[in-house]
Amino acid sequence: MNHIEQLWNKMATAYDAFTSGKNAYRDTIEWPCIQSMLPDIKGKSVIDLGCGSGRYTFLLEDAKPRKLTGVDISDEMLRIAREKAQSRGSMARFVKGDLHDFVPEDQYDVVFSSTLSHYIVDLFPLFANIYDMLTYKGICIISVVNPIYSAHITKVSQGEAAPHADSFIQPWYNGDEELEELLSYSYHHTFSDYINAIIHNGLTILEMQEPLHSESANTDGSVREIPSYLIIKLQKN
Ligand SMILES: C[S@@+](CC[C@H](N)C(=O)[O-])C[C@H]1O[C@@H](n2cnc3c(N)ncnc32)[C@H](O)[C@@H]1O
Repeated sequence: MNHIEQLWNKMATAYDAFTSGKNAYRDTIEWPCIQSMLPDIKGKSVIDLGCGSGRYTFLLEDAKPRKLTGVDISDEMLRIAREKAQSRGSMARFVKGDLHDFVPEDQYDVVFSSTLSHYIVDLFPLFANIYDMLTYKGICIISVVNPIYSAHITKVSQGEAAPHADSFIQPWYNGDEELEELLSYSYHHTFSDYINAIIHNGLTILEMQEPLHSESANTDGSVREIPSYLIIKLQKN
């Protein structure tokens, strides 16, 4: 079991509680933007990469896909997702896979992913896999931590507890010691890392968005100009 898988198993319950909160960050910034970019998924096959406890998988199910699959590396996250699926009568299937080298049995009309990519060391194989997973003309919506946001975060130097020299410390769980500690390590990718991995693998960029806080959600004014997310819409042509 690798380091990231261990961390996610350990913090699955806390993370699920954190993201299930009513006024969670994502409700006001990320999801409305994703919704504005999503194609019509009614009757389509959809896969959610790094689905975690199924937060977005179940939101996507509301749009009535024909087939819905969630993939995650963490058994604990998957356990929570499956429990939720059972209690809400969901048809979503949750499977274990490491997105560094995951090969699904089928191709999908829509590939979705939220806040997975900063746990992936090398983006090239990730976007190669996304290309292979998509049907012809299929659409990928990938929401990532904005490179501007992660660029200013202190790097952890080699020799410390970090699993990789390019890791950084994520500070956005300040105030929650358990989450802050457990979510510490991930990878900073630049805009060119994303763009090069996308174009190298033959995907077409249809749209990019960097949603900001709305006035009402922006309580202290300090983060208005720093977008938290970069959301990219891609197509296989
Ligand atoms: C920040 S959470 C996002 C979960 C979910 N997409 C959401 O938005 O609530 C990141 C997820 O990526 C998963 N993950 C990290 N590395 C992975 C990998 N190599 N393959 C598959 N899943 C991975 C973690 O287990 C975790 O559930």
